[in-house]
Amino acid sequence: MNLTPPATILITGATGAIGCALAGYYAKPGVHLILQGRNAETLAKTADACMAQGAEVSTRAMDLRDIPALQQWLAEISATCLPDLVIANAGMNTNNGPGRKGEDWPDIEALLDLNIKSTIALVNGLVPAMRRRSSGQLALLSSLAAFYGLPVTPSYCASKAAIKAYGEAMRGWLARDGVHVNVVMPGYIKSDMCDGMPGPKPFLMTPEQAARIIAKGLAKNRARISFPFPLNIGTWLLAVFPAAWSQRFVRLLNYGG
Ligand SMILES: NC(=O)c1ccc[n+]([C@@H]2O[C@H](COP(=O)([O-])OP(=O)(O)OC[C@H]3O[C@@H](n4cnc5c(N)ncnc54)[C@H](OP(=O)(O)O)[C@@H]3O)[C@@H](O)[C@H]2O)c1
Repeated sequence: MNLTPPATILITGATGAIGCALAGYYAKPGVHLILQGRNAETLAKTADACMAQGAEVSTRAMDLRDIPALQQWLAEISATCLPDLVIANAGMNTNNGPGRKGEDWPDIEALLDLNIKSTIALVNGLVPAMRRRSSGQLALLSSLAAFYGLPVTPSYCASKAAIKAYGEAMRGWLARDGVHVNVVMPGYIKSDMCDGMPGPKPFLMTPEQAARIIAKGLAKNRARISFPFPLNIGTWLLAVFPAAWSQRFVRLLNYGG
């Protein structure tokens, strides 16, 4: 059975490929979209496109790593327009760079701050009001990269594994409060971030294809929305096979860095 379609939806990273496609998917009359991004110009363009489809749109251009500013914004939202659905989508990637250089600490720190700290702060800031109302849905963008650490992107895989574990735990904890939590684990989706990742990108999908799959999974309140199917099975097997085998597979498949 599907959940009641959400009327107020908060999407972070709405200036990026997946966030913009999700905003476009949900934009229609009767829906209030609250869209966040950093790039104000791109955010305005996304908002205009959603308004042209009949949605009411509010925007917030901000860096989510500013936790006090984020918490203040979430307090305002909780008091005035608590969302039915929140999609914690903003994220970034780093990699080991050319010539086995390794990740730079400023990049690692920025990634951990955004992918883990800001995402958890976002959930943490909205959960009290959702529990009081006994309704709400929180979708957390993890990745298939959470199943097994790829040598080419160590910190990214670690951050997405953290969000997978956090989302699973919060889903269990909030189940009796009427608040749903979903962990979203896409494979390769065409975007600036994806383009910047080293290694092969099998079963590459468009952001629009990904948005449809994510939205359908959220409507069914699936605990884990992981896709596409072949890559989902492959990466899941990496997690359950003996680690020495998985390490060999990953190297053979050219993710060895
Ligand atoms: N694409 C893939 O293959 C793939 C696969 C699995 C999971 N994912 C996950 O899906 C999510 C969206 O990825 P995408 O592919 O759509 O990437 P993208 O096109 O690069 O978009 C990233 C988004 O995050 C926002 N962002 C980055 N740093 C921020 C910060 N410090 N504060 C606030 N917002 C910030 C960006 O905003 P500005 O552009 O305005 O700075 C942009 O809206 C990420 O969490 C990613 O890890 C992606």
